[in-house]
Amino acid sequence: MASRKTIVAPSLLACDFSRLGAEVERVTQAGADWIHCDVMDGHFVDNISFGPAFVEAASRHTRLPLDVHLMIENPYHYLPRFLPLASSITTHVEAKHDVSKTLAAVRDAGLLAGLAVSPPTHVELVKPFLGQFDILLVMTVTPGFGGQPFLTSMLDKVAEAAAWREAGPFDFHIEVDGGINVKTAAEAVRSGANLLVAGTSVFRAQDAAEEIRMLRNA
Ligand code: DX5
Ligand code: ZN
Repeated sequence: MASRKTIVAPSLLACDFSRLGAEVERVTQAGADWIHCDVMDGHFVDNISFGPAFVEAASRHTRLPLDVHLMIENPYHYLPRFLPLASSITTHVEAKHDVSKTLAAVRDAGLLAGLAVSPPTHVELVKPFLGQFDILLVMTVTPGFGGQPFLTSMLDKVAEAAAWREAGPFDFHIEVDGGINVKTAAEAVRSGANLLVAGTSVFRAQDAAEEIRMLRNA
């Protein structure tokens, strides 16, 4: 496999919400590639984060691609509210929807379509959808909260997905989300991940630019 450039996507879940615009600008200037937006509805996960109005507000402070991660029960219903704001939209295979229909709607709108698997879900479950998604998101913590420790056992899923990608013919990003720091990023990249979501490690770093650089080179 040709080596891929690692993409670093800071997660706004860890930013200071009272200074959203400044926080978005700070990580943009610090060299982030994409900005990750974690949308939670209090049903699919045990937390409520923010919705389209927040994502729209964030979008006014950056030109970077917005990578929207919908941790919501009915993603298809809410797609139209996020499609105009995002560059990529990822929905969960465990949510209540016709997965193929959701992925197709995201692609039809000209965005990258992502499919996510939560820790208890076997990665084989997304195999039937190969060719229908552009991003496979392997959750490396239980979705819902930032600041949790990385689940090392999820690396097997990353490696399995990387083997599918290697075998072809379908190409896709392998994204990891949760507990990513310089050490866990290196493990994830070694297993085949090329898209790193990092909340706490970037927003709480002394020097966000240096942290992003180290993650990219991990
Ligand atoms: C968890 C979210 C993650 C989270 C990552 O449900 O999907 O994006 O914000 O935060 P850290 O990097 O702090 O684990
Ligand atoms: Zn996320």
